[in-house]
This record gives sequence, C-alpha cells and structure tokens, in this order.
Amino acid sequence: MSIFKEDMLKGKHVLITGAGSGLGRQMAVAFSSLGATVSIVGRREEKLKETAEIISRNGKVCYYRKCDVRNIDEVRDALSYFASSAGEPNVLVNNAAGNFISRTEDLSFNAFNAVIGIVMQGTLHFTLELGKSWISARRPGTILNIVAGYASTGSGYVVPSAIAKAGVLSLTRSLAAEWGKYGIRSTAISPGIVPTEGSVSRLAPTEEIQKMLIDRIPMKRYCTAEELAELASYLISDAASFINGDVVTIDGGEKQWLSGQFNFLDALTPEQWALIKSLRKE
Ligand code: HXC
Repeated sequence: MSIFKEDMLKGKHVLITGAGSGLGRQMAVAFSSLGATVSIVGRREEKLKETAEIISRNGKVCYYRKCDVRNIDEVRDALSYFASSAGEPNVLVNNAAGNFISRTEDLSFNAFNAVIGIVMQGTLHFTLELGKSWISARRPGTILNIVAGYASTGSGYVVPSAIAKAGVLSLTRSLAAEWGKYGIRSTAISPGIVPTEGSVSRLAPTEEIQKMLIDRIPMKRYCTAEELAELASYLISDAASFINGDVVTIDGGEKQWLSGQFNFLDALTPEQWALIKSLRKE
C-alpha cells in the first residue's frame, strides 16, 4: 500500500528497462497504480507479458517490447513502438542490470562486456535517444538510474558491475549539470541488496554469505522491492522537481556501517564489553 496519492504520477509516461522481473516489475506496478502510463522493455517477452498482466489486473495498461538494451537497433525499435502506442515517454528509469560474483582473474573479456553492455551501454542508449529527442522537441524529462553503493567506492568481486555503475553514476551527475537547463532532471537510487529472483541467488548464493551480508546491515534485514519503488515514485514525481544530480541511498545504513572504522565492534559479546569497561581508568 503506497503512502502517496493515487494520481501522483498522472501525466507521466514512464519507460522502465529490465521490467520483466524484480525491481523493474515492482516499479512498473507501483508507478502504474499511482496513475502513470507504463512502458517496459526486457530480454524475455514472456516475463514482460507477466508484468503487463499484473498491471492489467488492476485495470491499467502496460505497453511492452522485447529489447536487449545492448542493441541500439532494438532500443530504437522499442522507442518508436512506445511513441506510436502512447506517445513518447517523459520519464526514463534505467534499471536493467547484470552482475556476476567472481574473482576478477576468473572473468573473460566477454563476461566484462556482457555486464558493461547492459549496465553502462544500455543506460547510455536509452538516455541519449530520449534525451536528444526531449531537447529537440523542447520537452522536459526525468531520468532515474539504479546504481549501487559500490558505484562510488568500487568493490572487489563484482568489478564489471562496479565500473559500469560508476559510469552510470557519473552520467547521472554530469547530465544533471548539462541538461538541467532543458528541464531534464537526472537522479539515481543506490539500493543495498534487494532480494529478487535475479539478485540473491547470484549475489548471495549460500546461506553463509546471506548471513554475512545481513549481519553488516544495521537494520538486520534487506531492503524490500516495495520500499525501493516508493522512493522511485517520489523521485520521478513532481514533488521532487528540484532534485537533480543527487543519488539517494536506501540500504538500512549498510554503507555507513562499512565506512565506520570501529563498527566491527558490533561483534563483541557482553563479556568482552564488560572486560573493556573493567579496564577503564577511574
Ligand atoms: C563468470 C560468467 C558468468 C558467471 C556468464 N559468464 N555467467 N562469468 N561468472 N556467473 C561469462 C560467460 O562465460 C561468457 O564468457 C560471458 O560471461 C557472457 O555470458 P553469456 O551467458 O553468453 O551472456 P548473456 O547471455 O549475455 O547473459 C549475461 C547476463 C546473464 C545477461 C548478465 O547472466 C543474466 O541474465 N543475468 C541476470 C541478470 C542479473 O545478473 N541480475 C542481477 C543483477 S543484481 P565467455 O568468455 O565464456 O564467452 C545487481 C545488483 C547489484 O546488479 C547491487 C548489489 C548491492
């Protein structure tokens, strides 16, 4: 149940990449329930159809087109299909992602290309195509990119994703400065891990890794897809009309925990704290 008014996104035509499942699907359902027209792309037509059916059960329409965001011809085809169906989208959410947990020395160039192609090139394809069109038609627009905490810090073991998300974060900030004058806003969300079919099985494949990940989140749980969709709804809405170039973190304090040098003391037992207290000089 959203806290927002039902028609908050009326007048928005939102294009979401990677919306056949996971966060993309959740955002599509949320935006549509708040009055937006929603168009979605993804690589698997049957998954897109499922998202569209969920939305149609709520009495709303969702346009979909199979599209690999790495392929500019498919991107152009999808954009022209949506423009002829519901008019050109005025909001773009770059959500499509790919990621492997791996030692970097075990990755081939093809593995790098697959992830960078989806995350960085895919974002660039849709951003440039729509951005150029908005500018030449003198129409405002909104871009929301989904990044990750390691976009600004880097991270081992997810290096293709880290470098691609860093590029997307830089694109967000750069275009905010350059395209703000055209009424085009660029923002980003930096989520912690959100359990979806594509994420946990890949990023936290064993129970042991899942426990390690949750232990370092101060709120001791993952972010939910609904929480992320609420934040995204706000950022693409007119209520956020002066937010441009910022990245909003939604990770339960995980990034903060990781950056505090002494936060590892969380692991100490009451007995260890009693010992530390007894060593105090009175
Ligand atoms: C290492 C791998 C690999 C793996 C594939 N490759 N899987 N290398 N570890 N797990 C290698 C292959 O051997 C191949 O290299 C190259 O990568 C391309 O593989 P393909 O399978 O041919 O690629 P493709 O069909 O294009 O599919 C790639 C993909 C797919 C789209 C990324 O894996 C996929 O659908 N992933 C699901 C989406 C996903 O990852 N979602 C999670 C995002 S979560 P060679 O050299 O053999 O040709 C996320 C959140 C981050 O990003 C934030 C966390 C806080």
